[in-house]
Amino acid sequence: MIIAETILHTRDLIKQARRPGKTIGLVPTMGALHEGHFSLIRRCVMECDFSVVSIFINPTQFGPTEDLAKYPRTFEADTCSCRDLGVDMIFAPPTDQMYASQNLSWVNVEKLTDNLCGSNRPTHFRGVCTVVAKLFNIIQPDIAYFGQKDAQQLAVIRRLVRDLNFSVEIRPCPTVRDPQGLALSSRNDYLTPDQKQNALCLSQALDRARELIASGTTDSPTIINAMQSIILGQPQTRIDYISIVDSDLLQPLAKIDRPALIALAVHIGPARLIDNILVEPPAQKQ
Ligand code: PAJ
Repeated sequence: MIIAETILHTRDLIKQARRPGKTIGLVPTMGALHEGHFSLIRRCVMECDFSVVSIFINPTQFGPTEDLAKYPRTFEADTCSCRDLGVDMIFAPPTDQMYASQNLSWVNVEKLTDNLCGSNRPTHFRGVCTVVAKLFNIIQPDIAYFGQKDAQQLAVIRRLVRDLNFSVEIRPCPTVRDPQGLALSSRNDYLTPDQKQNALCLSQALDRARELIASGTTDSPTIINAMQSIILGQPQTRIDYISIVDSDLLQPLAKIDRPALIALAVHIGPARLIDNILVEPPAQKQ
């Protein structure tokens, strides 16, 4: 496995790896790798001839009061994991490689970034889209893997690829959870054991939404109220949002009458956690 730190070296290695009929796969990450990331990496290694994992804590997707400085950094362990998983190359640029001087060019996806995480993190998706566009330009992967865990990010990246004609196929991967249902996240490291227990309310609220829909409830406010009660029943929780939106343009739905995304963000102690599920309208009774 090669570890490349410069864009020049990376382009050179990619040029050597690119052969007719051979696919290059990319898993973009910010490191602190866990089983969620590993599920994407395993698929990439299995489905592509040359697999690249990028590890870059992208400063432009963090707001001024967010956790950039304390974001977990576990580069040694990450490289060992990637080696064990059969990754061909890690791209781990220092910040000044990706943002050489004052950055004046940005990639923005409109509308899809206005609500959900975009409401309270107004420059977050601009940072994500810009760095992902840079990674696509540097590595030029045939296939790139993204987790459903970050559902809005996935929808935004799909739109970016479509609107800007990137020649890459986006493959979504299901959310990996711990045995109790908590979606794995690098930010779970911020939680004490008690807070981790409280954090189970996110997946419990989503399970409740699924049950309500299965029993015929389609009214979004009713579902959101039930989810809210579960979350506020736990100590140290502060809801950022609970939203039911259409799964394409992420616009609010008053009723679940088409495929929908139920997404939430909740502050638990020092961490802001997100989770979501995709749901279908309940089957019509004959
Ligand atoms: P990061 O949070 O490191 O996540 C990298 C990828 O792993 C994302 O596609 C994310 O959705 C996926 N992932 C994280 N936890 C997961 C889980 N529990 N199950 C399945 N997939 C999971 O997302 C980012 O980094 C950044 O925004 C990035 C795209 C790299 C741009 O900087």
